[in-house]
Amino acid sequence: MSINRRDWLKTAFLGSVGLTLSPLDFLAKSTPNFSELKNDEKTIRLCFNENPFGVSPKALEVMQKNLSLSSMYDFKFADVLCEKLAEKNQLKKDNILVSAGSSFLLELITKYVSLDKGHIIIPDPSFTIFEPIAVFLGMSKSVIPLNDKKKIDLEKMKQSIRKGTKLIYICNPNNPTGDLLSRQEIENFIKSVPDNITILVDEAYIEFTNQQSLGDLVIQHKNLVVTRTFSKLYGFAGARLGYAIGHPKMIENLKKLQSWSGAEISVVTMAGAISAMDDKEFITKVLDNNQKVKDFTNSEFQKQGIRTIPSSANFVYFSLENYKGDYFKQLRQAKILGGKTYEEKGKWTRISLGTMEEMERYFSVIS
Ligand SMILES: Cc1ncc(COP(=O)(O)O)c(C=O)c1O
Repeated sequence: MSINRRDWLKTAFLGSVGLTLSPLDFLAKSTPNFSELKNDEKTIRLCFNENPFGVSPKALEVMQKNLSLSSMYDFKFADVLCEKLAEKNQLKKDNILVSAGSSFLLELITKYVSLDKGHIIIPDPSFTIFEPIAVFLGMSKSVIPLNDKKKIDLEKMKQSIRKGTKLIYICNPNNPTGDLLSRQEIENFIKSVPDNITILVDEAYIEFTNQQSLGDLVIQHKNLVVTRTFSKLYGFAGARLGYAIGHPKMIENLKKLQSWSGAEISVVTMAGAISAMDDKEFITKVLDNNQKVKDFTNSEFQKQGIRTIPSSANFVYFSLENYKGDYFKQLRQAKILGGKTYEEKGKWTRISLGTMEEMERYFSVIS
């Protein structure tokens, strides 16, 4: 029986990978269409607190110019980036650890504190993406509900400290509430707890506030680690970049859990990030829009008698208790992606702040 080249290719390929697709089909399917991330032009993403203006244009230009460097390993730029971040935070390079998004740093810190087992204290609701890792690594946990003002309850967290407590997580501003604790409140808290407990302050949204980062306090407080991200203000959620600020000893210890620190970050992302920090025009545009849109959002919710929590971030937390319609169905039908539900049997939800046009569309749908 004769077999032509195409059939042979097909048979050989399917045999080797055990698929029922032709090689061409397979290749087509293995090259995903990344534009699908945007779903379609009509879908409005108000679900992940992303930057509604995309990536900083200065960063994007540099990234496009440097795409061809993707074939090369980097032995230098993570260091250059740390240098720049240290300068920006008035710290030294050995206070900084960069990674492909701050989520990885939350994970790394969790693994570090879990080395000898123990106990963690986390607020709820909050961005506790690392909690399952801690539990998997044998840590016990105390989950502390927000207080009646929907603030992270530092007092209750302190009362939950016990022998073996290794980590206390504070998200500031908190996701999903947007509530901000003052520097003083957190510093007093740090001073009041034993210094063998790592205090992890997640500042993913700090740039949306007028409050200074706690980063400078890592010099006095060796047990403090602050995490920051490029995903929000600079629009790098898909490019992936975050960093931790800590005492040199803490950073050194965290690096011991990495085989090649910084190698998880793409060279293209690093090139873009260095420019993003200098894109003042974009930063101003994003922050101005965020404030205007937040004022509009709060006043629209107020008109509808909907209770909101004052937000210091790029999203608003609100109660669906007095909402008359079928909120999630309305969003779905209008192709608007909103947040999930939280607390009090799912009474609360969060909406990310988009552009003014997107928020007008959102309120036209839910009014
Ligand atoms: C509070 C908080 N921390 C960290 C992250 C993760 O950010 P990254 O994109 O840097 O991993 C998010 C993402 O939404 C967040 O809300």
